[in-house]
Amino acid sequence: MTQALHTSALTSLPLLARGKVRDNYAVGKDRLLMVASDRLSAFDVILGEPIPGKGALLTQMALFWFGKLGHICPNHLTGETPESVVTPAEVPQVVNRSMLVKRLKPIPVEAVVRGYLAGSGWKEYQESQAVCGVPLPAGLKNAGKLPEPIFTPAAKAEAGEHDENISYEQVVKVVGPELAAQIKKISIEIYSTAAAFALTKGIIIADTKFEFGLDENGTLTLMDEVLTPDSSRYWPIEGYEAAYAAGQNPPSYDKQFVRDWLESVRINGKPWDKTPPAPPLPADVVAKTAAKYQEALTRLTA
Ligand SMILES: Nc1ncnc2c1ncn2[C@@H]1O[C@H](COP(=O)(O)OP(=O)(O)O)[C@@H](O)[C@H]1O
Ligand SMILES: [Mg+2]
Repeated sequence: MTQALHTSALTSLPLLARGKVRDNYAVGKDRLLMVASDRLSAFDVILGEPIPGKGALLTQMALFWFGKLGHICPNHLTGETPESVVTPAEVPQVVNRSMLVKRLKPIPVEAVVRGYLAGSGWKEYQESQAVCGVPLPAGLKNAGKLPEPIFTPAAKAEAGEHDENISYEQVVKVVGPELAAQIKKISIEIYSTAAAFALTKGIIIADTKFEFGLDENGTLTLMDEVLTPDSSRYWPIEGYEAAYAAGQNPPSYDKQFVRDWLESVRINGKPWDKTPPAPPLPADVVAKTAAKYQEALTRLTA
């Protein structure tokens, strides 16, 4: 395995932005080199310790899904190799973990689709029997399967803030009725196709978030990462039934392991207040988290 990379430092390309996980560099005017680092964010705070292999795993998983879903919607991949746009000395920072993509005009909506009720969806349902204004039947439980997948968009938050659930009407206000309808339809179709496939590999994709952009012709294009354990809730099928019956969160392939540790840790006798800096992760938590990501990819692509 290549060395863990917390923060990339390419000098041959202009750095545009560092996200929670990805460092984006400009390649000319119309392309981006997206380098997925090994950073992990939990509760929207970036942790100090990288998770070895994570960036490469996320990128390989996204590429796997882009390959499977290309017939539903165009995506941002250019098909060129990321190594071709950096110097030889910079190749180790880029290899396996990067995507060379079309630079799109991002649509400021997180296209969330839920097939199961969990997280903020479960929370909203308990308060209003609806999620993002989508009414749901009474009597659903935490982690319960929905009658059909629902589109529950969110507004992308500023760095360090939490995304906020919004209604479909709010999406219409931002992008207009035609694009809103197209985003909703395509998101549900991609989710349904991916979830059906994942189930054959013993994985429930409970929910997921897509990002879209417009290309130079105004064509709606799928961008960012897709269907990774960072952008989705992945539940191994074995743990699901028992957890659901007990009203608990099913064990998952995402960051739940780290989140649980962060919630259990005590700093001078007190819980961490979820503001930076995060408490340092012990080596066994790092290793276990890395293994979870690896297991998810292996299972999916086996
Ligand atoms: N093809 C693209 N064109 C323009 N921006 C993109 C494209 N694909 C992804 N992005 C943006 O690049 C960033 C990816 O970095 P990431 O670390 O995931 O950021 P975040 O902290 O916002 O999740 C996101 O802001 C995403 O919206
Ligand atoms: Mg992201």
